[in-house]
Amino acid sequence: MLRCTGCGERFPILEIRYRCDQCNALLEVDTDLEAMRKARKPSEWKELFQERLGHFRPPYASGVWRYHEWILPQIPVERIVTKLEGSTPLYSGETLRRSLDAPAVFIKHEGENPTLSFKDRGMTVGVSWARHIQSKAVICASTGDTSAAMAAYASEVPGLRGIVLLPRDKVTFEQLAQPIASGCLTLALDTDFDGCMRVLQEFCQRHPVYVLNSLNPIRIEGQKTIGIETLQQLQWQPPDWFVIPVGNAGNISALGKGLLEARELGLIDRLPRIAGVQVEAANPLYLSYKNGFREAVSVEAGQTLASAIRIGQPVSYHKAAKVIQQLDGVVEEVGEQAIMDAKARVDACGVSICPNSGAAVAGYLKLRTAGIIGRDERVVLIATAHGAKFSQSTLDYHRSELSGITPRGANPVQPLAATLEAVEQATGFVRTS
Ligand code: F0G
Repeated sequence: MLRCTGCGERFPILEIRYRCDQCNALLEVDTDLEAMRKARKPSEWKELFQERLGHFRPPYASGVWRYHEWILPQIPVERIVTKLEGSTPLYSGETLRRSLDAPAVFIKHEGENPTLSFKDRGMTVGVSWARHIQSKAVICASTGDTSAAMAAYASEVPGLRGIVLLPRDKVTFEQLAQPIASGCLTLALDTDFDGCMRVLQEFCQRHPVYVLNSLNPIRIEGQKTIGIETLQQLQWQPPDWFVIPVGNAGNISALGKGLLEARELGLIDRLPRIAGVQVEAANPLYLSYKNGFREAVSVEAGQTLASAIRIGQPVSYHKAAKVIQQLDGVVEEVGEQAIMDAKARVDACGVSICPNSGAAVAGYLKLRTAGIIGRDERVVLIATAHGAKFSQSTLDYHRSELSGITPRGANPVQPLAATLEAVEQATGFVRTS
């Protein structure tokens, strides 16, 4: 069943709907935890999920479908469209721990998914469902990562047409290349993300196109595995904190849903806290948090290098506000300098992250300075996309070409004559004979 997050009204899961008729709030999948509890004890679920780690083939080799009974059991295995997404690494190397002066920090690197962002987790479920309900076309508005994922998954389904609405000139060139290459109709609208979202909602009220933005409750079911898989990697010993960048607020809502369900199922014995991080240029959730979530604030999102979270009216505001309160969470905001310096610090440890993930790291460091997160606490920072999708800002940072930013971690390329002497001089190696 689908359940309204506002008034609790319920709808059949096979109905294509994103909002409640009565109160217009977003819907969520009412996961049948009771059936799961009846089927297996917590220790038996853990054993099953562990046993599936030995699989090489779909569906269980996927870090989403490993949890199939928890993630849309209604969908038959043969309808699943998967690229074996998920199973992403949890980095905690020595250079990283030293660089962040954090003995128990982990980076859950969702950029190491097939299309290089966390969106693949939701998209495998969303596109599988589109196939199951025999949609002819899927659509999304995007800041560049949802569109890349949707295009790649949709192109695996014969006869399924993909349409993406992008804010013109506001996604990176790598992100733009992805849907084009996947053969998806790619429309660049003269507006920002919030403008694309508005047009998309108007379009979908009139035409039978399945929406794969995070307002789609089915997609959220896939995304909730970010937290679930991390818990499994930590042997079901929950960290003290998850820190996550926030744009449209779908991902933080999904993370929270997964964690709360894990607790209800008895797979963990306490809940972690969560910290959502926004950029100063696009900080509506931060402002709402500051007013005690009394009202949803919206802003006009300004220029930021964290372009994937340049969103002024988060669609999942209410869901996010609720999970933040349920998980004793906080919301922080960070500026451009802090984002790029934090990204450079993590990149330099061999973990290539995007500026949006850099915002999460910068937010973590800010919360440490404020004494809200302790140095020794176990913290999982969620890196949402790979640095390779945002190479322009990385190069510009290291070349000192970002206006208003003094790159503290710059490592510029050094042009050099093609001689042995020049290389010796540049490297500091001295000839002995
Ligand atoms: N990080 C990256 C790399 C993203 O692409 C996004 C969202 C987020 C963080 C924020 O997640 O919106 O669920 O709060 N990107 C969407 C897109 C909006 O269209 O690709 P959120």
